[in-house]
Amino acid sequence: MEEVKVVLYGVGAVGKLIARFLLEKQGVKIVGALDVAEDKVGKDLGLLLGLNKKLGVVISRNTASLFSKVKADIAIHTTTSYLKDTYPQIASLLKHRVNVISTCEELSYPYFSEPELAEKLDALAKEHGVTVLGTGINPGFLMDTLVITLTAVCQKIEKIEAFRVMNAAARRLPFQKKIGAGLTIEEFKQKIANKQITGHVGLGQSIAMIADALCWKLDEIKAEAVEPVIAKETVESSAIKVEAGKVAGLRQRARGFMEGREVILLDFQAYIGVKEEYDAITIQGVPTIKQKIQPCIHGDIGTVAIVVNSIPKVLNAPAGLLTMKDLLVPSAALGDLRRHVLTSKPLASK
Ligand SMILES: NC(=O)c1ccc[n+]([C@@H]2O[C@H](COP(=O)([O-])OP(=O)(O)OC[C@H]3O[C@@H](n4cnc5c(N)ncnc54)[C@H](OP(=O)(O)O)[C@@H]3O)[C@@H](O)[C@H]2O)c1
Repeated sequence: MEEVKVVLYGVGAVGKLIARFLLEKQGVKIVGALDVAEDKVGKDLGLLLGLNKKLGVVISRNTASLFSKVKADIAIHTTTSYLKDTYPQIASLLKHRVNVISTCEELSYPYFSEPELAEKLDALAKEHGVTVLGTGINPGFLMDTLVITLTAVCQKIEKIEAFRVMNAAARRLPFQKKIGAGLTIEEFKQKIANKQITGHVGLGQSIAMIADALCWKLDEIKAEAVEPVIAKETVESSAIKVEAGKVAGLRQRARGFMEGREVILLDFQAYIGVKEEYDAITIQGVPTIKQKIQPCIHGDIGTVAIVVNSIPKVLNAPAGLLTMKDLLVPSAALGDLRRHVLTSKPLASK
């Protein structure tokens, strides 16, 4: 079987990490890359990645010019978080008969916030015989797919709680800025008001996906306002020092209610100075399950892994819009990627 041919749509922080991991893997080849950033378009991907060698993959600005030159089996799409913005990009890939895996948070369960766009993507993907999936570490795995998987051994479920508590000091500087680390409370509120800080996108999507998997008809999904976490003492990362009384990061909660009762609680916390980092899930039911991953899974490493590991799952899947709950049990695609692709299904690039 030929190598799986991949196009990267978006070569920002996450796109570049995915590119590096793909270059290490056997059975897969990066055949193209797209971005809109002026400092990237026209550059060779190898130089952009700081490899000191050209890869012969020049960053293109639009799909039409790229796909007039190359054929691809799948695009890894990592541009922005909201489906209204990413819809035209993803639709264009589908029209070129390219399967898509995207880190766009709203695409992880698009029926929650954008049901009409979800229907349109499903129809487009089916018309062109390809598959589209939104995934990532969260949303995409920790607070939804993993929760759903654990429910498989339950006979009854009363309530589900999932927590992600991350020490932002160990994360990229853009992430620390994204959560407001180092700001005064006033500056934080201002940035929330003008949407420069959006907080984590995806809690509503994760709750809706869990409810869908359990056939729970929720009355309401309530997302609380993003709260600043205030440093009690001076805390610091290698790049930011946060004095006591300033913002160290943020906390966000969202709840799902059924018949007036809270049945799902998701709690996301990311700040500099976290004492204990973990991902934890409690399912109250028969049996009650308590699962804790310590330290919490590194967001970038996990995102790169789940995106790349999903390539064979998506290539093997039927055409249409899928969410993680529709795929086969997630697993690592170790070794040559082609070993994980069903040989009976021809690759789109052939
Ligand atoms: N689900 C998850 O677990 C998960 C995990 C990680 C990241 N994400 C999401 O994945 C996305 C990418 O993350 P990131 O950290 O790599 O962001 P980033 O560093 O901002 O990179 C995004 C890249 O895409 C480019 N871009 C923006 N709009 C574009 C368009 N219309 N066409 C082509 N390229 C475009 C950007 O260019 P400019 O710089 O010029 O805008 C930038 O180069 C974000 O929305 C992030 O929230 C999700």
